[in-house]
Amino acid sequence: MLKIKHANQFWSSIIAFIVIFLCDTTLCHIAAWTKGTYCLNGTTPGVDDENTHLIVDPLYQLNFSDWWMHHVDNCDQFPPDPGDFLEIPALGAFTVEHAANRAFTTLSYNGTNIATYPDGQDHPGLENSQECIQQPNIHTQNESMAAGSAFAISYTSNLSEVNPTNLVVFSVLYNTPWRRLATYTAPRLPPCPDGGCICAVPNGCGTPNMYMHPLKCNVTGQTGNLSLAQPEPPVWCEGNVSACTSGPKQMIYWNQLEGNNIAVSGQDLSGAPKSPGYNMNCGFADGPQNDIFIQNDTGGPTPPPDLSAAPKSRHHDGRVIALVYVLATVLLSLGVT
Ligand SMILES: *[C@@H]1O[C@H](CO)[C@@H](O)[C@H](O)[C@H]1NC(C)=O
Ligand SMILES: *[C@@H]1O[C@H](CO)[C@@H](O)[C@H](O)[C@H]1NC(C)=O
Ligand SMILES: *[C@@H]1O[C@H](CO)[C@@H](O)[C@H](O)[C@H]1NC(C)=O
Ligand SMILES: *[C@@H]1O[C@H](CO)[C@@H](O)[C@H](O)[C@H]1NC(C)=O
Ligand SMILES: *[C@@H]1O[C@H](CO)[C@@H](O)[C@H](O)[C@H]1NC(C)=O
Ligand SMILES: *[C@@H]1O[C@H](CO)[C@@H](O)[C@H](O)[C@H]1NC(C)=O
Ligand SMILES: *[C@@H]1O[C@H](CO)[C@@H](O)[C@H](O)[C@H]1NC(C)=O
Ligand SMILES: *[C@@H]1O[C@H](CO)[C@@H](O)[C@H](O)[C@H]1NC(C)=O
Repeated sequence: MLKIKHANQFWSSIIAFIVIFLCDTTLCHIAAWTKGTYCLNGTTPGVDDENTHLIVDPLYQLNFSDWWMHHVDNCDQFPPDPGDFLEIPALGAFTVEHAANRAFTTLSYNGTNIATYPDGQDHPGLENSQECIQQPNIHTQNESMAAGSAFAISYTSNLSEVNPTNLVVFSVLYNTPWRRLATYTAPRLPPCPDGGCICAVPNGCGTPNMYMHPLKCNVTGQTGNLSLAQPEPPVWCEGNVSACTSGPKQMIYWNQLEGNNIAVSGQDLSGAPKSPGYNMNCGFADGPQNDIFIQNDTGGPTPPPDLSAAPKSRHHDGRVIALVYVLATVLLSLGVT
């Protein structure tokens, strides 16, 4: 069995590189596709591009006006068709499609190119790691290299009015992006204005990039009557819950020329370069963010999860999976089975 836990600095560096390589090629250049997603049809007026991947392009070292809401390629100028909203049931769940290209979702080609994973492939080796990897410690945490993804909401129908002080992370899904289908859960959000709300989706994957794109969304179902409080920037608080930002948080804005709200340096507790993501290293609990309201919600704030060991071990196991996966891929490409 691979003992990554006690790996020295050299191996840590090699493995970190492999994780980033894996991310870059298959898992990380993905976005959340829904009928409410901006520039769903691409950005050529009058053309419905079923093969678009604009929103998947990562944002790196851009001016605020360019990265905010993916303005850099005019995505923010192409709202979804009238009446097309991502419906978010308060206290309920909603499912989106994570994919590298709209082509690999049910929104294109009548869904004929969909598969288990976001790249239009089933990757049977990954789906049943017990057969492929044969490492007892691995198949239990096989999604663990995914850093987590999130949804944020702003209570305005006007995209121009959304800014970092009114865009609040309301749902987090650990260990994603991973498969195509991803189901998030919502707290008791209040109803949206008549024209719906604006949502935004980031995701983190351990690469020094950032993703953000807008959607039109609407809160339905058992809506609450408590407004959202103003969000604060998340901070790096690995292993120390009391250092985390409590209450409503902004999305993670980093590696841009301006408008960053988090800065990290050095290594995390596992020895990898710190990489802020939607997990407890930045104070984000899994699931609905119940602590974002101005007054007490009926359910009360979510108790912070026990931090002592879980994030660390997830990280290590993720690296093992990544290593084995890359090795398997190399062997397969060499025709060794
Ligand atoms: C950012 O803005 C500055 C000042 O407006 C400009 O000089 C620079 O070219 C911009 N950089 C990018 C990457 O757009
Ligand atoms: C999708 O299905 C509809 C109805 O079955 C059909 O008319 C259409 O041609 C199909 N489109 C593609 C791209 O296969
Ligand atoms: C992950 O491992 C679990 C437990 O062995 C297994 O049930 C599941 O199918 C695996 N999922 C993936 C995506 O590999
Ligand atoms: C949207 O907000 C911008 C900035 O506040 C404002 O200039 C514009 O008129 C608004 N649009 C609508 C349709 O209300
Ligand atoms: C949003 O959902 C509510 C509750 O179902 C509904 O009354 C409202 O019309 C919806 N808004 C839009 C813009 O569709
Ligand atoms: C808000 O909701 C709570 C619990 O559902 C209820 O007790 C309270 O009366 C409501 N307040 C208003 C102003 O509607
Ligand atoms: C945890 O964070 C708090 C608040 O920032 C700080 O006062 C404390 O020293 C930290 N504890 C440890 C063990 O780092
Ligand atoms: C929150 O609930 C506690 C206990 O029920 C109460 O004492 C406190 O006043 C409430 N705070 C607000 C802002 O409503």
